[in-house]
Amino acid sequence: MDTNKRPDDMQRITTSELAQKFIDEQVKDVRAQVGDKKVLLALSGGVDSSVVAALLIKAIGKHLVCVHVNHGLMRKGESEQVVEIFRDQLDANLVYIDATDRFLDKLVGVEDPETKRKIIGGEFIRVFEEKARKLEGIEFLAQGTIYPDIIESDGVKAHHNVGGLPEDMKFDLVEPIKLLYKDEVRVVGRELGLPADMVDRQPFPGPGLGVRCLGEIKRDRLKALRDSDAILREEFAVAGLDKTVWQYFTVVPDFRSTGVRNGKRVFDWPVIIRAVNTVDAMSATVPDIEWTVLKKIASRILAEVDGVCRVLYDLSPKAPATIEWE
Ligand code: XMP
Repeated sequence: MDTNKRPDDMQRITTSELAQKFIDEQVKDVRAQVGDKKVLLALSGGVDSSVVAALLIKAIGKHLVCVHVNHGLMRKGESEQVVEIFRDQLDANLVYIDATDRFLDKLVGVEDPETKRKIIGGEFIRVFEEKARKLEGIEFLAQGTIYPDIIESDGVKAHHNVGGLPEDMKFDLVEPIKLLYKDEVRVVGRELGLPADMVDRQPFPGPGLGVRCLGEIKRDRLKALRDSDAILREEFAVAGLDKTVWQYFTVVPDFRSTGVRNGKRVFDWPVIIRAVNTVDAMSATVPDIEWTVLKKIASRILAEVDGVCRVLYDLSPKAPATIEWE
């Protein structure tokens, strides 16, 4: 039997009862697969890895070792939330690595978007690998692979989280949600008791804020990006737009524009608001956001974020624009 193929008669998980049944089955299967061995998981805090973590904590408790790498390109409060939920609330065996300086130092002077992506992805593997080598008795690697990852990779099994580990570090894989669609993963996550803002999160690219702090990543501009993004998310939640808009974030370009502050001429960054609706991210439309909401976001960003004198709303659909700016 092809274990990477969803059986034709597999029922779609839409209710709490079905989620519970799935969880019970997976807990049994995972225990049978790993016995008393240890399992390693790269826990980004995204929906998929968080649901896998919660499921495996239920199945094997402290035999799951979660590693959260903060690459310094996370959104405001994100790494803190991972630690709070998994270490403090779920009592997980969580290793937290703040690798901010390591990543940002590597990115100094790098402007090209694809090179930035490669550096971030490569460094992530190296930080994870170094930690994994120090941990003893790990025999399995858990991954948040979901069914679209398998379908999209055309039958070739996709590594959802940590591809690219060296040959001598190939562990047996534990992929408990690999036959689920995203909406089912969310139902299972809710049933496992994960908070709504974690389970219903919008997609967030692996390179994080790195692809939204355009050009060379500078710490001060990254801070303006993180602070403005936090304001945008807060105000979208207040307006209920977090329930209806698929993805929304801010972007800070690597050029300045003129402004006046306290009667003095300044030369500060613009912040661009990006919001899109889509089904599969292949094409996207721009939602009609109320002016009152946009103006409130703009006035808060201008008042609260250092180094910003202008706020823009991106009206471009995909195609021709992509969702991200680089
Ligand atoms: P684009 O910009 O290509 O984005 O229209 C489509 C979707 O993919 C996400 N995205 C990424 N996700 N690594 C990721 O994990 C990346 O390098 C990356 N680039 C774009 C983007 O956020 C959007 O949801």
